[in-house]
Order: sequence, then C-alpha cells, then structure tokens
Amino acid sequence: MTEIKMELGERSYPIYVGRGLLDSADKYFNLDRRVLIVTDSGVPKEYAERVSALCKSALTVTVKEGEGSKSPETFIWLCEKMLQHEMTRSDAVVAVGGGVVGDLAGFAAASYMRGIDFYNIPTTLLSEVDSSIGGKVGINLGSVKNIVGAFHQPKAVIIDPDTLKTLPERLIAEGAAEALKMAITSSPELFELLSREGVTDGNVEEVITLSLGIKKRVVELDEREGGLRKILNFGHTFGHGIEASCDGRYYHGECVALGMLCTVDDSLRERMAPVYEKLGLPLVFEGDLEEAIALTAHDKKREGERLSVILCDDVGKYRIEKMSRTGFKSMVNRAVGICARRYGEKK
Ligand SMILES: NC(=O)c1ccc[n+]([C@@H]2O[C@H](COP(=O)([O-])OP(=O)(O)OC[C@H]3O[C@@H](n4cnc5c(N)ncnc54)[C@H](O)[C@@H]3O)[C@@H](O)[C@H]2O)c1
Ligand SMILES: [Zn+2]
Repeated sequence: MTEIKMELGERSYPIYVGRGLLDSADKYFNLDRRVLIVTDSGVPKEYAERVSALCKSALTVTVKEGEGSKSPETFIWLCEKMLQHEMTRSDAVVAVGGGVVGDLAGFAAASYMRGIDFYNIPTTLLSEVDSSIGGKVGINLGSVKNIVGAFHQPKAVIIDPDTLKTLPERLIAEGAAEALKMAITSSPELFELLSREGVTDGNVEEVITLSLGIKKRVVELDEREGGLRKILNFGHTFGHGIEASCDGRYYHGECVALGMLCTVDDSLRERMAPVYEKLGLPLVFEGDLEEAIALTAHDKKREGERLSVILCDDVGKYRIEKMSRTGFKSMVNRAVGICARRYGEKK
C-alpha cells in the first residue's frame, strides 16, 4: 500500500493506493456514523455493498450511470436522501464510482448543511489518476459542464486498483489519456513508462501513484486554479470542442487525446503516436472539424476573444499561450491534417 499525503494545511488528507483496500475502508475512513454511499448503475454493485458492510448506519443510493446524473435534479435528490437519512453535520458521504459519482456526491457533501465530510473511492482509471483528488466537485447545467460547483476537499481517498478489473478496455484507455496528459506536461518518467508498457494490470498501480504525485504537486501549489493548475487542462481546450460536437462518439479521454495532438510540437507528436497505438487511443480525428473548432469557443477557458491554450514543445516542457481564434484554428487544422496523412492509412 502506498500513502500519498495531500498537503493543504487544515484541508490536508491522505490518499491510500493498494489492492484490496476496499475491504478496509473502515480502517481509513470514520464510518462509525451515518453515511450516504453514492454509486451509479454501471458500477458493479458489490463495491458499494462491501463498503456498506463496514458502516454503522449506511444508506446506499444508486444514480443512473452517465454524465446526465451530474444534474441539479440528481443533486437535489441526493440532498433529500441525506435529509431522510437524518444526516447531520457530523455525518459523511462516500462516493463509490467514477468521476461522475465523485463530482456529484462531492458536491452534495459540499452543500448539505454547508459542507459535511466527503470520502472518495474512485473505480475508473480516469478517477483514480485524476478526478478523485483535488477537491473540484460539481454538476452540469444542460450541456454546460461543471458550471455549478465548489472546492470541497475529501477527508481521505482510497484507491483500490482491483476495481479496474471490471472496467472495459476503452475506459482504461481514456483514463490512460489523462495519465498521459500529466506525463507530457510534467513527467518524463511517467511518459517513459507509458511508452514502454502502456497500462497493464502489472503496472497500473505505478501509473496511478506517479499520476497522483503530479496532480498532488499541482494542487498543493494552486488549490483554487489561479494559475499552475491550468496545466491539468492540457488537451482539454480543443478536447471539449470535440466532445461537444461528436455526440458521444468519442469518450472524454479520447477527445483529450485528440486535443493533445493538436497542441504539441511536431516531433513530440511523433513520439506520442506509438503510445497512443499501445493504449488504443485515436490518432485521427473523424468528425466535423469546423464544428468542433466553433464549439471550442464555448469553453470556460475562453478569456475574451482569446483562447488560453496549453502547448507542449517536449515532455515536461509546457507553456500557456493566449491565442487568437484564427491562430488556434490554423494550428488545429494543420495538426489534424498531419495526423490524417501520417496515421490515417494505418487504420
Ligand atoms: N473533479 C475533477 O477534478 C475532475 C477531473 C476530471 C474529470 N472529472 C469528471 O469526471 C467525469 C468522468 O469520469 P469517468 O471517466 O470516471 O466517468 P464515469 O464516472 O461516467 O464512469 C464511466 C463508466 O464506467 C462505469 N464504471 C465505473 N467504475 C466501474 C468499474 N470499476 N467497473 C465497471 N464499470 C465501471 C460507470 O458506471 C460509467 O458507466 C466527468 O464528469 C468529468 O467532468 C472531474
Ligand atoms: Zn479530462
């Protein structure tokens, strides 16, 4: 078991990574009180059941799987469940699921009685390498993602890589894209590991701890996203444009992967391609490029007429640039064209 400590003064908390930890949640979380366990219909039921068995008084609620559950309606429903369960300020919420469950349950914990304890047990690779730590919680309003939310750090996080055994390959790949995002901006060591091996059952724990180490440093230096934390958005500016335009055809991590290809130096892209192939991530954008670029404008990161874009020249070498829409468009068009020519015929 590896313990990582997020150092945020009085909001500091431990993150435990290890196989089988799910069954010792009561050792690391205070479950000797009323607990609301939130999971979703796509997460194998037994994970929440195993946690529930360790609680003194648990109410388990299952929301519908998918991004649609990060909604005001589901959020209110959770608050009502907490009220019915007679939860007080000294009780706690436990999320057992991916980023959707974590963001939603975390926001309910942040809001109920102006904030109660929150514990997170992420069960997707994306949430285990990224979203489960850092304290950003929230919901969507219609198609506008994460527009209502809070900073509410968990009290502790348990990551049990055994939960990934039930996760479909494609979801492993999209989680790997977020790990790759951190590797490219900040860690030649992680990039080297992913290039060599991809993500396997044998190395996933190391991929998780290395990724979390990077995210931890970034969050500690910039808890509320005043500057540095923006690097976690690498690949996301155009990635969100693709996501908004593709009608669910690409998963979030795949959109980020395609977004990263457009915001790197040509030689770095060449080094990334074999890693994408190993991980099963798309190299060639297939869709309406004009629309994806147009929808990028609706991104939160737009500042005035300029887009704030994270660019990487080499692994571990990034810069944040304010780009005109025209400049952004020609950069994306050029990169998508290169990828289509270089990698299109391989498909
Ligand atoms: N708070 C943050 O800092 C942050 C960062 C990145 C992403 N996010 C958010 O995370 C969300 C995406 O998270 P995600 O990719 O984990 O998606 P998700 O939570 O929707 O999970 C993906 C699918 O996997 C299923 N699943 C979960 N665990 C499983 C398991 N162990 N075995 C089998 N199936 C399982 C779920 O039911 C779901 O259908 C987005 O809403 C995004 O905005 C938040
Ligand atoms: Zn992401």
